[in-house]
Amino acid sequence: MKEKKILVLGGKGKTGRKVAERLTNLGETVRLGSRSETPSFDWDNRETWAAALDGIDMVYITFQPDLAVPGARKAIEEFTALAVKSGVQKMVLLSGKGEKEAELCEQVVMNAGADWTIVRASWFNQNFSESFFLDPILAGHVALPKGEALIPFIDTDDIADVVVESLLDDKHKGQIYELTGGRQLTFKQVTGEISNVTGRDIVFTPITMEEYKKMLKEYQVPEDYIWLINYLFTEVLVEKNSIVTNDIQKVLGRKAKDFSEYARETALTGIWNPEK
Ligand SMILES: NC(=O)c1ccc[n+]([C@@H]2O[C@H](COP(=O)([O-])OP(=O)(O)OC[C@H]3O[C@@H](n4cnc5c(N)ncnc54)[C@H](OP(=O)(O)O)[C@@H]3O)[C@@H](O)[C@H]2O)c1
Repeated sequence: MKEKKILVLGGKGKTGRKVAERLTNLGETVRLGSRSETPSFDWDNRETWAAALDGIDMVYITFQPDLAVPGARKAIEEFTALAVKSGVQKMVLLSGKGEKEAELCEQVVMNAGADWTIVRASWFNQNFSESFFLDPILAGHVALPKGEALIPFIDTDDIADVVVESLLDDKHKGQIYELTGGRQLTFKQVTGEISNVTGRDIVFTPITMEEYKKMLKEYQVPEDYIWLINYLFTEVLVEKNSIVTNDIQKVLGRKAKDFSEYARETALTGIWNPEK
């Protein structure tokens, strides 16, 4: 049987890194989709796409910065068409749970002409250690809107396990999985948990969306990024997206990783105590 080659887009990022590691450990042949690999892959430079897809049978697609941004659907249309033309037979798309615009991109993947699995994820635990909530944690002061929102944070370990399963087992063909953690947390509870495991004083202050946007502007965050953050807080952190799902259990036959376990493990890496 011909050996399958798997392209992992965002192969150095939060989920792609773990997907690539797991696949490699299982003996699969992996190509990392990254701007710093050869061949390189850049969503903003379509000329890089064909070489990255050359000889590839399956793709894990993580889009940058988010499937909800203007232009994402067109990029996904062009990328998936090229992928199928190039011989790709299976695509697994990482999508955002509760993002209407992302669902339009999902449709594109579903209709591209290859086998597919959609993995819709809730907000990641790792946003507090590898992404935009790390700086406030380090500063000891987390000021965010939607203090009341109940968020079923998911761990990227679980996402990676589901993605690998979806790539390697045909029974996941044509499935849409909605992945959440096993319980809902508020930002205040998250801050409290990280405070406990690090022994640091980390305060949570609820603010309005307007105050948050003003603060991001003062930190010179680019306008399109502020637009995305506003979208995620206002469209995604709504009641219907707080529901805990059972899809981790369904796919992996085990419970989702709990936030406390993530917090304990991450504290041990020292990332939340940079001064030590
Ligand atoms: N964070 C959440 O809570 C959450 C929740 C649900 C869904 N999602 C979705 O997850 C996706 C991101 O996946 P992720 O978190 O695993 O990845 P990530 O950690 O955000 O980033 C992955 C990699 O993307 C690469 N990258 C940045 N700009 C790029 C570009 N123009 N072209 C190609 N690569 C680029 C960077 O790698 P190089 O420098 O190596 O190129 C980076 O390491 C987004 O679509 C987001 O909507 C996120």
